Amino acid sequence: MKTSKTTYGIIGYPVEHSLSPLMHHAAFKAMGVEAEYKLFPLKEEELDGFFTNLHEKSSPIFGLNVTVPYKETVVKYMDSLSPFAQKVNAVNTIVISDDRRLIGHNTDGPGFLTHLTELGFNTRDRRIAIFGAGGTTRAIIVVLCLLPARPKTIRIYNRTKENLDKLLKDLAERCDTSIVQAVASVDELDIELADLLINTTSVGMKPDDVPLVSEEVLHRDMLVYDVIYSPQETKLLQMGKKKGAKVSNGLGMLFYQGVLALQHWADMPVNEKIKVKMREGLMEGLNKI
Ligand code: ATR
Repeated sequence: MKTSKTTYGIIGYPVEHSLSPLMHHAAFKAMGVEAEYKLFPLKEEELDGFFTNLHEKSSPIFGLNVTVPYKETVVKYMDSLSPFAQKVNAVNTIVISDDRRLIGHNTDGPGFLTHLTELGFNTRDRRIAIFGAGGTTRAIIVVLCLLPARPKTIRIYNRTKENLDKLLKDLAERCDTSIVQAVASVDELDIELADLLINTTSVGMKPDDVPLVSEEVLHRDMLVYDVIYSPQETKLLQMGKKKGAKVSNGLGMLFYQGVLALQHWADMPVNEKIKVKMREGLMEGLNKI
């Protein structure tokens, strides 16, 4: 990480509501690093120019996060990819080297796994059910499939089956997805038998959203994980709680993907003191939403 004033930031569209600036500014302050973290709301047609400029020696930008809808789009701009980002075929963190080479990483998968571990969930031989087939599911599938403690099954349901089929076809070319199965209805997810249910869709963000699953199939021997963190407790999590399940929102995943991104930029582990500050920054932002 540079010591003179450098720029980090997030690209996406929209990015106005991102909590990443608060998290990273808190980290920079705690580390004594003179750096800023900016929002870069970019339209699709602005991407070529933005990435061309990143190669300029005069650019102050040394690291970026990437969010919806560009995590897959930016892969083509990278000079190299980490082995994990290559398998996911999506990038949420970019390191820009001194010679202006762009190295793409994906910290969404490891961020999720770190949080899952923190929650005390052991993945070995477990049955996992997932709602959604977007960028988050993409990263979660790959990280789970690469684990030595492999789950028994990962069953996935998505509103648009073709999107799920396309995702799984792409991932099957990159890693062993033999434990993954696409299903055509919520019933076929077999949630009654699942040890972990993950919602990666945006259903639950709005107050009148109806959860994709009925309360009856949730049970006390499972973890219900909603990647949504605003609201902090979706209806899905409320239902899970009512049935005695362990529940978690996605704040931990957001936090750890940020910590891991910072580690890539700093090229060293982020200590506990800095993590505490990052979490405080995150909570400050969340309480303002
Ligand atoms: P992310 O990168 O956060 O995963 P995304 O790539 O936009 O976000 O993915 C959104 C996911 O939420 C998709 O799986 C989408 O389903 P479709 O493939 O059918 O679009 C799912 N999703 C969004 N709104 C939904 C809704 N109202 N009901 C069910 N699924 C929904």
